[in-house]
Amino acid sequence: MAARRAPQAIRSALSQLTKSSTIHGARMTPLVAARAAPAAVRGAVGLPVQQTRGMKTIDFAGTKETVYERDDWPREKLLDYFKDDTLALIGYGSQGHGQGLNLRDNGLNVIIGVRKNGASWKDAVQDGWIPGKNLFEVEEAIKKGSIIMNLLSDAAQSETWPTIKPLLTKGKTLYFSHGFSPVFKDRTKVDVPEDIDVILVAPKGSGRTVRSLFKEGRGINSSVAVYQDVTGQALEKAVALGVGVGSGYLYQTTFKKEVFSDLYGERGCLMGGIHGMFLAQYEVLRERGHSPSEAFNETVEEATQSLYPLIGANGMDYMYAACSTTARRGAIDWSKKFKDTLKPVFNELYDRVEDGSETQRSLDYNSRSDYRELYEKEMQEIRELEIWRAGKAVRYVTP
Ligand SMILES: NC(=O)c1ccc[n+]([C@@H]2O[C@H](COP(=O)([O-])OP(=O)(O)OC[C@H]3O[C@@H](n4cnc5c(N)ncnc54)[C@H](OP(=O)(O)O)[C@@H]3O)[C@@H](O)[C@H]2O)c1
Repeated sequence: MAARRAPQAIRSALSQLTKSSTIHGARMTPLVAARAAPAAVRGAVGLPVQQTRGMKTIDFAGTKETVYERDDWPREKLLDYFKDDTLALIGYGSQGHGQGLNLRDNGLNVIIGVRKNGASWKDAVQDGWIPGKNLFEVEEAIKKGSIIMNLLSDAAQSETWPTIKPLLTKGKTLYFSHGFSPVFKDRTKVDVPEDIDVILVAPKGSGRTVRSLFKEGRGINSSVAVYQDVTGQALEKAVALGVGVGSGYLYQTTFKKEVFSDLYGERGCLMGGIHGMFLAQYEVLRERGHSPSEAFNETVEEATQSLYPLIGANGMDYMYAACSTTARRGAIDWSKKFKDTLKPVFNELYDRVEDGSETQRSLDYNSRSDYRELYEKEMQEIRELEIWRAGKAVRYVTP
């Protein structure tokens, strides 16, 4: 699979080098683009691989931002940096699994803390964590750890805080993968002790992707931030941990900006907005007499299989240019109407994120003892929607 993808990756890296390149919306010089290409691609096309570089300031479409990268933290440096630390990773859900296994494979001293005999405990045992050796109950793991990586669900972070806080003694470091708990402390009650470093590495993707990219020898993009710097080392520690958990590039931000943009994005274009748009378009096609396969192909299949990957690889203009002039004319015209119609909805969403309403909704719902069953019921309802059942049939006939 990797072998089949490589030539295309090389072609795309080369095409990015011959033009001025665009990666994740950032205008990059050819050299920066070369560095941004995966190491395997750089090696394959004989591009320079710089081993030791400092933090970078990159011009993202006219705004300069700070980015850190994995190449600055070779394995020996990472092992030396954390040689006296025990990383206590609390929670073994999506992120706990991905980050924990990556840390372990990187050779770092990591232990897991989860509820005994819960679903996560069993998952951890299956992944080779050994009870009493590197798998403990939450409180015991925190006591043993010097760096406490709180990867419980956000609702559980709030629920368990009265037990966890007294264990966060001076000299320990508290790590999050979301700004949620400390930023909305008036609602979550997560008021961090004043005498410890509090840092964040938030991978921009699911824990499964954190793991799969690491295994492919690549790294996920992550946000990195400092909430409290007592030692003067908080940022450096955060970047090093970010590399340890499998990040390729770390984009510097604040806890507040991370949580606002994350809650907003996942409710919008990343998940909620796109699902709403798929459903609206599909329903209109069906109501106007189109077959399920035609409605699905014109709504989801062509988007996910053909057009969105082009946007991901080379940008919106590249996707437009790859389509017919008929498609291009209509799409450019209608994008303005969609933007104007949707912008007020996005503003309403941002307001609800900013005033904490979305946080409260998440805390209330996800703290319910039956939250797993309730989500499963909703997943079942989605699975049974005609659009997604039609999708399964389309996938079945698609080679
Ligand atoms: N998932 C993502 O894509 C993603 C991406 C970036 C950042 N993040 C952030 O990473 C952090 C972890 O997210 P996640 O998605 O990995 O979480 P998750 O999959 O929902 O994991 C939940 C973990 O919390 C434990 N838990 C739940 N309630 C508990 C309680 N009352 N007491 C003790 N343990 C409890 C679960 O243990 P049991 O199995 O025992 O219930 C499980 O280990 C969050 O801050 C999240 O915002 C997530």
